[in-house]
Amino acid sequence: MPSHFRAPVTRRQFVIGGGVGLAGLALSSCVRPFAKSGTTLAPSTPGQVFTEPQLLTSTDGVLRVELTAQAKQLPWGDGTRYALAYNGSVPGPTLRVNPGDRIELTLRNNLDEPTNLHTHGLHVSPEGNSDNILVMVAPGDSRTYTYEVPADHAGGTFWYHPHHHGTVARQISGGMAGAIVVMDADDASTAFTSTTDRVMVISDPRTGRDSSVLDASSMEKMMGREGDVILVNGLRAPVLRVETGRTERWRIVNASASRYYRLGLGGTRFMHVATDQGRFAAPLEVDHVVLTPGQRAEIAVNVTTGMTGLVASPVDRNMMHGMGGGMGGGMMGGGQSTFTSDETIVGFEVVDTGTSTFMPAALHARGSAPAATSSRSLSFGAAGMGMMSNGEFVIDGKAFAAGRVDADPAFGSVEEWTVTNKSGMDHPFHLHVWPFTVVSRSSGAAPDPGWRDTVNIGAGETVVIRIPFTDFGGTTVYHCHILDHEDLGMMGTIRVA
Ligand code: C2O
Ligand code: CU
Ligand code: CU
Repeated sequence: MPSHFRAPVTRRQFVIGGGVGLAGLALSSCVRPFAKSGTTLAPSTPGQVFTEPQLLTSTDGVLRVELTAQAKQLPWGDGTRYALAYNGSVPGPTLRVNPGDRIELTLRNNLDEPTNLHTHGLHVSPEGNSDNILVMVAPGDSRTYTYEVPADHAGGTFWYHPHHHGTVARQISGGMAGAIVVMDADDASTAFTSTTDRVMVISDPRTGRDSSVLDASSMEKMMGREGDVILVNGLRAPVLRVETGRTERWRIVNASASRYYRLGLGGTRFMHVATDQGRFAAPLEVDHVVLTPGQRAEIAVNVTTGMTGLVASPVDRNMMHGMGGGMGGGMMGGGQSTFTSDETIVGFEVVDTGTSTFMPAALHARGSAPAATSSRSLSFGAAGMGMMSNGEFVIDGKAFAAGRVDADPAFGSVEEWTVTNKSGMDHPFHLHVWPFTVVSRSSGAAPDPGWRDTVNIGAGETVVIRIPFTDFGGTTVYHCHILDHEDLGMMGTIRVA
């Protein structure tokens, strides 16, 4: 314990950057969880205070927001890094609403390229000025979106990001993402009053001084670009002060363009409270959760002394197998996965304030999906021929084409989709607007519990999902949430009528 560090608590632990040589080195001479007044640690320096994005909350049933998309130099190291930001910050502000609220959001495009906005996971209309990703906002233009959140919308953690086909990976990896929280009866009741409620947006940008950080080679796009640093709320390994007497509750968003994370607490078990699409009736006790790009998890942690923080471990998404087998790591070149061992992405400063044994029960979970009334099959990707090519990033053999309808479920139907991954690499399948449940996995793995909007389809695997097409009709998309794959054409159009 460094001598310059004092505070009126009985026992503290401060551990950070586990497994990361660089972080360990940087910190060994200066372990300081809180910047001294008058000094600010750069976001690139592990050990600064954990902070959350600005919180914007609805009042009287309406949330009015202006989001300006703009390139921005963010503080980094001794200088700055180039990013694309909403309202100047990465991540953008957190939007918090209640079921039944209306969000009136004006997007101003101050980028020098087109963009638009998607509310990932919200069960709202995909038409008109609602969650319509088929419209484009040109540079210099603005557009007002109006989202009517249904009164029976599931509580949970969602997010917003651009969705202009062809530039989604560069804009999101550049920093354009923010959380959306829909509060529910559990948040308002005593179920969670003894817990914190924090948002953690995980991203992995490339860091550099100019816009070249947004570029990726065609090989990197086929692999799915990964950045050179893992950030939580825009900060590298920030330190969160946690109390043993209070349960930590976190809403975690994987806003990375391609990277998967296995998240744990160094082996200690915790409660998995909610998926992408709302809560379990009772938490699942787990020692890790895996998040593909696009997925979210809400977890609750009874903190004990000795815990060191939130640890991310690499997940093998079969990038290399996707290469057709013959090519080794040498092909990865600069910029590809530098994340090969466990990394503490949020350090803890544990304060001993007693013991918490919190265990929420009887949460407002959704029921199971109704029986299917029709079915459909989809194939993701194509088998590689030894050398990867853009032609592999297809659904049912076809690259995305605007205006072509690829799936046309009847409004009110419940469809069972059999999604087969023909390729050698994993692809996270994502469907807009209509949540689904997972029925089975050909790998024999247990179907993912709860409701989802994004699900991993392992290399060669077939996953069956069940989707009620209720409440809204309209035209939108499903796609791979490795966003370079989406931009390469791994996306289809769905029209529900
Ligand atoms: Cu997260 Cu089609 O989106
Ligand atoms: Cu989405
Ligand atoms: Cu993919």
